Amino acid sequence: MKVIVAKTAGFCFGVKRAVDQVYRQIEEGVKPIYTYGPIIHNEEVVRELADRGVRIIGDEEQLAGLTEGTVIIRSHGVAERVYRLIEERGLHIVDATCPFVKKIHRIVREHSGRGEEIVIIGNDGHPEVEGIKGWCLGRVTVIGSEEDARQFRHETGHRLCIVCQTTFNYKKFDKLVEIISEMSYDEMDILNTICSATEERQSEARGIAAKVDSMIVIGGSHSSNTRKLFEICQMECEHTYYIQTLKDLDIRLLPSRGCVGITAGASTPNNLIEEVSKQCLI
Ligand code: F3S
Repeated sequence: MKVIVAKTAGFCFGVKRAVDQVYRQIEEGVKPIYTYGPIIHNEEVVRELADRGVRIIGDEEQLAGLTEGTVIIRSHGVAERVYRLIEERGLHIVDATCPFVKKIHRIVREHSGRGEEIVIIGNDGHPEVEGIKGWCLGRVTVIGSEEDARQFRHETGHRLCIVCQTTFNYKKFDKLVEIISEMSYDEMDILNTICSATEERQSEARGIAAKVDSMIVIGGSHSSNTRKLFEICQMECEHTYYIQTLKDLDIRLLPSRGCVGITAGASTPNNLIEEVSKQCLI
């Protein structure tokens, strides 16, 4: 049995930076520490942080109830009003928003400030998309499917500005932009804000899945970038399996000979990838 592990599997730069910031606060003895949402979509890491006293705030209502402490903003970023709320409550803020997401906040603020209508290609309700919406000053629409794109009608006379969730599937982004462009007669700025780490991870996963007998995708159940990796791999390799931990790996499903490919979402720690890879070789 041969195992190919994707070089791009695991923590991306933004997630690593955010997780490191939490550990730094713990080491510096900061108390109490809150993260605005789980710092990453990985239950084991989140549990370990909880054991070390890091608490999770679920929403603005909970945030409004705090009177002291440090709030860490995760790599997904948040709406502008969340920063205001943290300041109003007199809390300390550690901003671990990924710089690539921050760039999208700046783009939508600037373009919507000029009266342009914003379109976010992404999954409505995803925390990153919610955060981006919260920096738009005018009308904003989220488009996540071909049906959404076909139904989209924008206000005539307003220039469109299209941005994309950083972890979106770039082939799907192209397709949705194509549909919007066919239906829209006004001028538009199309900004492909998909993070290069995502593009590289998806391309490598596609390439590996196309040549192996089975493919394993590792990541948390709530991780949208892992789900997209799974979709991509499944299109290339019929025997693609989505696992969250080593316990989910059913070695009997893998071929006894041949080749297994492994990739992982941006929130998957390296030690888990290594454990899965070792297990495949047993
Ligand atoms: Fe940032 Fe890209 Fe990761 S946007 S959080 S480096 S997937």
